[in-house]
This record gives sequence, structure tokens and C-alpha cells, in this order.
Amino acid sequence: MLHDRGHWSSRLGFVLAAAGSAIGLGNLWKFPYITWDNGGGVFVLMYLVCIAAVGLPIMMAEILVGRSTQRSVVGALKEAVGPAWGWVGGLGVLTGFVILGYYTVIAGWALRYFFDCLRWSVQGFDGAALNTNFGVFVSDGSQQVMLAALFMLLTVVVVLRGISGGIERAARILMPTLFVILVLMLISALSMEGAQEALAFMFTPDFSQFHAGSALEALGQAFFSLSLGMGAMITYGSYLSKEESVPKSAGIVVLLDTLIAISAAVIMFAVIFSVPGMKEAITGSTAGMLFITLPSLFYNEVPFGVLLAPLFYLLVCFAALTSTISLLEVVASYFIDERRWSRTRATITCGFGVFVLSLLCALSFGAWDPLSSFTWVEGKNGLFSHLDYLAANWFLTLGGLLITIAVGWVLSRSFTETELTTPPAPGWFSYPAWLFFIRFLAPLAVAAIIVAVILGADFS
Ligand code: TRP
Repeated sequence: MLHDRGHWSSRLGFVLAAAGSAIGLGNLWKFPYITWDNGGGVFVLMYLVCIAAVGLPIMMAEILVGRSTQRSVVGALKEAVGPAWGWVGGLGVLTGFVILGYYTVIAGWALRYFFDCLRWSVQGFDGAALNTNFGVFVSDGSQQVMLAALFMLLTVVVVLRGISGGIERAARILMPTLFVILVLMLISALSMEGAQEALAFMFTPDFSQFHAGSALEALGQAFFSLSLGMGAMITYGSYLSKEESVPKSAGIVVLLDTLIAISAAVIMFAVIFSVPGMKEAITGSTAGMLFITLPSLFYNEVPFGVLLAPLFYLLVCFAALTSTISLLEVVASYFIDERRWSRTRATITCGFGVFVLSLLCALSFGAWDPLSSFTWVEGKNGLFSHLDYLAANWFLTLGGLLITIAVGWVLSRSFTETELTTPPAPGWFSYPAWLFFIRFLAPLAVAAIIVAVILGADFS
């Protein structure tokens, strides 16, 4: 490259930033509620299979493409795979833009709940207000827009400072804090009465609950949670030094992400199952679980809840922030690498563009009716949930499928083998196994699920 693109200062820097990208609202907000919606154990099992058989190999593939080309997603795919593949990168940039548009809205909610909990912890919890509040809160357009804008601003400030001085530095502070808070929460939750039932719900699969619709959901969730399918890991990998092992870094990131998703669900279910009648009460909008159900439980049920409640929403904010940073970096680095924009210009322009989309999403919870109430896809309501469905279940899986084909079939074996085994890979890594997964298993699984859903396989 002609200009200095920046790089991570160490492997730890990369691992924390990549784990920061992966660990986010996908783990803390989405995984628990879609696990709930899809009946627990069997969904968790499908999710773990998707992570191991599809997620991990693609994580390595993405980091490999980034590290070898040292360019962001569009340039990297063009250079490594061929000029026509720039389009796949383009789809990635578009997907990043779309995800950011709705992601910042939920992140804004977490910010608001952090401040609310601080107040409740000091002044006493006001439960009656909370129950009526959520509906009022989400349909309060100006507040929604302001919160999303504030979150976007935080993201822009970090991305402006570049790779090691901004993204890595933020991850080095936020991620260790997040791990500590989560462990505290897990200890507290496991001491509750509902812990046994929560573990049973998560880990005993009921195969009668299996259907293709939830397989697609598990697959989409695996992509979303690991930040795969749109080149976020290509982009982060492009700042990684050739001295770092790709399989090792990928393995650590996947492991951390999975542990945190499972812990978040265990925490949430342990709390819910500890309260008689709560399980039945959570029907309608499970997407609001994190915001409607949890707060009052913190103050009424959870040991040390007064301390843990604000800490918990702080954790959600931290997790969301390191993810929005990675999403914005994908979009901005396209303009930096391919259009030769300065980082400042790219970050501010993209940040503003995203803000316009998140403004529309922010208004789609009742504030503005035309955006809030349409249904194109069964079970989805309004702009927000359609964008999530489209980006997470379709764009990411499609992007992921194309990336596996590119890396597995277009790139030469000698090239991918050298990239993955220099420096020497850890003992658990086997190149032939990886090649089998990336060439056959991952693309076939992704394609089969996509086809099954297109053919209308029993959606229920
Ligand atoms: N993985 C993040 C989460 O679980 C979200 C995210 C960040 C993401 N960057 C991404 C998803 C890139 C897909 C692609 O919340």
C-alpha cells in the first residue's frame, strides 16, 4: 500500500478487537431471545454445530484473506480472488451499513437503561413506571433518535483515532471490564433457584422442536455473532501482522464469543426461571426480554441486583460499542483503501450516512406509523425487524457462502495452506480437515439451509 494503513500493536490487540467485534448485542440481546423463541436445547445444539462446522472455518478464511492482502474487504477480495469478487466485498460494505443502522438503536436502549439503573440503584426502583415505560420509551421518536445518534457519535470518535490508537485501545479497556462483569453476573445467577432449570432448558435438546426455519435462524445467528459473512474479519485481519497464526487467533475469538453467548443466556434464564409465573409471562415480544423483563428482576430477585443492574447495562453498552466500531470500520475502510479518502473524511461521512438510516429505524417502534407497522415477512413488524431479518439471515449467509467458495475453490491449496500454517498452527488445527469444511461442509450446509427456506420448509 502507498499509505500507512495502521496495524495492531500485538496479537492480544487483534484478539481483543476481534472478540470485541464478535461479542455484542448478538450475544447479550439476540442469542438469549431467539434461543427462547426456538425452544432452547435443540436450538443451542444447532447453533453450536453451525459455529464449529461453518463459523470457525470461515473465521479462518476471512482472517487469512485480510492478513495476506493487507487490504479491506473490497480490495482484499479483488486482489486475492479476482476483480469480479469486488462485488462480494461491496455486499459486505452494504451489509455493514444496514446492520449499523438498526444496531445503534438497540445500543441506544442499553445506554438509556444504564442511566436508568444508576438512578434506580440510588433512589430506589420504580417498577410500575418501568412496565408502562417500555412501550412509551420505544415509541418516543425524538428520544430514540437522540440515543442512537449519541451511540453513533461514540463509535465515530473511536474509529477516527485509527487502528492501534482508537480501536485497539478501546478494546483493551472495554473487553477485560466486560469479562469481569460477566463472571460476577454468572456467579450471582448460578446461585439462584432457577439455575438448574435454566441449564436443563439450554442443554437438553427436544428434537420435536427442530425445523428448517430455526436452522436458518441458528446459522444466521452464528454468522451474526461471529461477525462473519461481510468481511469484518477480513478488515480486522488486514491489520494483523504475518507473524500471527490465523487458526490460533480465530480459535480464541470463536471460543470467547461462544462462551459469552451461552453465559448470557444462562444468566438471563436463571433469573427468569427463579420467579414463579415469569416463564409464562414472557410470551409476546421476547425481543424485549433484555429490557422489559430483566430490570425489575434485578431489583427484586437477583442477589446484589442493585449493584449488578447498572453494571450489566454498562456491559451491554461496552459489548455493543466494540461491535459498532468494527461495523463502521468495514464501511469506512472501504473509502480509505479504495477511494483514498482520509480516515477523518471517511469516518465522519459514513457515520453520518448510518445516522440517517438509524433515524428511520429509531422511528419504527411506533413513533412513525408507516415505518412501524408493515409486515412483508411473516412474524416481522416494521422497518427495524425487517432490516435485521434481511441482513442477518440473508446477506450474511449469502456473503459467507460466497466467501467459502472463493477461499475454498478459487484460491489455490498451496496458498491457503501456507497462509494457515505460517507461523506454525496450534496442534488441534488440521489443514485437510479445514479444507474439507471450507470446500464441502460449510458451503453445502449454508446452501441447503438457504434452499430449504426458499422452498418454504416448514416455517412455524
Ligand atoms: N457480532 C456482533 C454481535 O454479535 C455484531 C457485529 C459486529 C457484526 N460486526 C459485525 C455482525 C459484522 C456481522 C458482521 O453483536
